[in-house]
Amino acid sequence: MTPKGKLQMRRGFHCIALAVVHLAIWFFSGSMAGDSQVYDSHALDEFFQQFANRTLHHPRTGVLYNITLPRRYSGIKVSVVRMRSSTFWVRGIQLSPFYIPPRVILKPNVKTLGIMYQNLHNWSSSYYQVPGHRLVAPVVGFMAFDASKPDGVGTQMLNLTVTGNPIMVSFHPNRTEQGNHTVACVKFGYNGTVVLSNVTSPNSCVVQGQGHYSLAIQIPPSSRGKEEGAWRWWVLRIVGVVVVIALTGLGVWAIYETVMRNKIRGMEEESERGAPLEITWVRRSRMPSASMLRTQPVLLEHDVAFS
Ligand SMILES: *[C@@H]1O[C@H](CO)[C@@H](O)[C@H](O)[C@H]1NC(C)=O
Ligand SMILES: *[C@@H]1O[C@H](CO)[C@@H](O)[C@H](O)[C@H]1NC(C)=O
Ligand SMILES: *[C@@H]1O[C@H](CO)[C@@H](O)[C@H](O)[C@H]1NC(C)=O
Ligand SMILES: *[C@@H]1O[C@H](CO)[C@@H](O)[C@H](O)[C@H]1NC(C)=O
Ligand SMILES: *[C@@H]1O[C@H](CO)[C@@H](O)[C@H](O)[C@H]1NC(C)=O
Repeated sequence: MTPKGKLQMRRGFHCIALAVVHLAIWFFSGSMAGDSQVYDSHALDEFFQQFANRTLHHPRTGVLYNITLPRRYSGIKVSVVRMRSSTFWVRGIQLSPFYIPPRVILKPNVKTLGIMYQNLHNWSSSYYQVPGHRLVAPVVGFMAFDASKPDGVGTQMLNLTVTGNPIMVSFHPNRTEQGNHTVACVKFGYNGTVVLSNVTSPNSCVVQGQGHYSLAIQIPPSSRGKEEGAWRWWVLRIVGVVVVIALTGLGVWAIYETVMRNKIRGMEEESERGAPLEITWVRRSRMPSASMLRTQPVLLEHDVAFS
C-alpha cells in the first residue's frame, strides 16, 4: 500500500476507535444512571427548608404551618412549626406520625427552634430505596432548625439528644403491599446509609435522631430479577451492540472507498502524464504498471491487495 493509503487507513481507524469509545461512555453512563438513585433526597431537603424559610414571614410560635409547595412537587406534604425551646423541653411535640417526648436536649441550645415535617407520599420510592426491599409505607421525615431569628424558620440544623423516652414514629402500612410479610423499620441516614431495625409495637419504630423513616418488606430473591428495568437494560445493551457493529462496518467501508479513490486518482494522474499503462504479471497478481521509461514503478507494487 502507498504511504498515503496507510495514512488514510490510520486516520480511519482513529475515527472508529473514537466513535466506539464515545458510544461506550454514553452507553454505560446511561445505564448506570438508570440503576442508581436519580433523585437527590439531600437536595430536596435543602430546597424545602429554604422554601419554607422564604415563604413563612414572622411565623407565630406554636402554630403548625402547611407549606404550599411548587406544583412540580404536588403530592408531597411539608409542614413547619416554630416553638420555644422551653416548651419543647417540657412538653415535647406530636408532629403527625412523630412523637417527640419531653426532655430532648438541643445542641446548640437555642431559644426558639423550628421543626420541619415531611411526608413524601407517592414520591417516596423515587427518592428513597432499600436494596432488596420494598417500601410499604410513605417516607416521613423531620428535622430541627435554629429559628431564633423571628423572620423565618431558619436553615441551621440542630442536634437532638434524647434523655427521657425515645422518639417514636407510627405508620399505617399498605395492607395489600405488606401481605403476610414481616415489616422492618428503615432509617435513611443523612450520609446515604440505610439502617433496618425491628418494629416495636405493631408498625411503630424507635427514631434514631433526625432524618427519614419508613417501613419495608423484604422482596424474595426469586422475584428480584423480574424487577422493572431489567428488560429495559437488556434492550439498551442490544441496541448498543447493533450500533457499534453498524458504525464499525461504515468505518471499514469508508476506508476502503478512500483508498480506492486515491488509487484511481493516482492512475488517472499517470495516464494524464501520457505514460501508457500496461498490464503485467507481478508476483502472480494482475496489476497496472508503467512502461519501461517510468522511473519508480516499485511504489505501486503493494497495491495488489486492493485490485
Ligand atoms: C404524585 O401524585 C400527584 C397527584 O396527587 C401527581 O401530580 C404527581 O405527579 C405524583 N408524583 C409521582 C412521582 O408519581
Ligand atoms: C431565611 O429567611 C429570612 C427572612 O426571609 C432571611 O433573612 C434569611 O436570609 C433566610 N435564610 C436563609 C439561609 O436563606
Ligand atoms: C451534630 O452531630 C454531628 C454528628 O452526629 C456532628 O458532626 C455535628 O458537628 C453536630 N452539630 C452540632 C451543632 O453540634
Ligand atoms: C452514617 O451515619 C450512621 C448514623 O446515622 C453511622 O452509624 C454510619 O457509620 C455513617 N456511615 C458513614 C459511611 O459515614
Ligand atoms: C429482630 O427480631 C428478631 C426476632 O423476631 C431477632 O431475631 C432479631 O435479632 C431482631 N433484630 C434486631 C436488630 O433487634
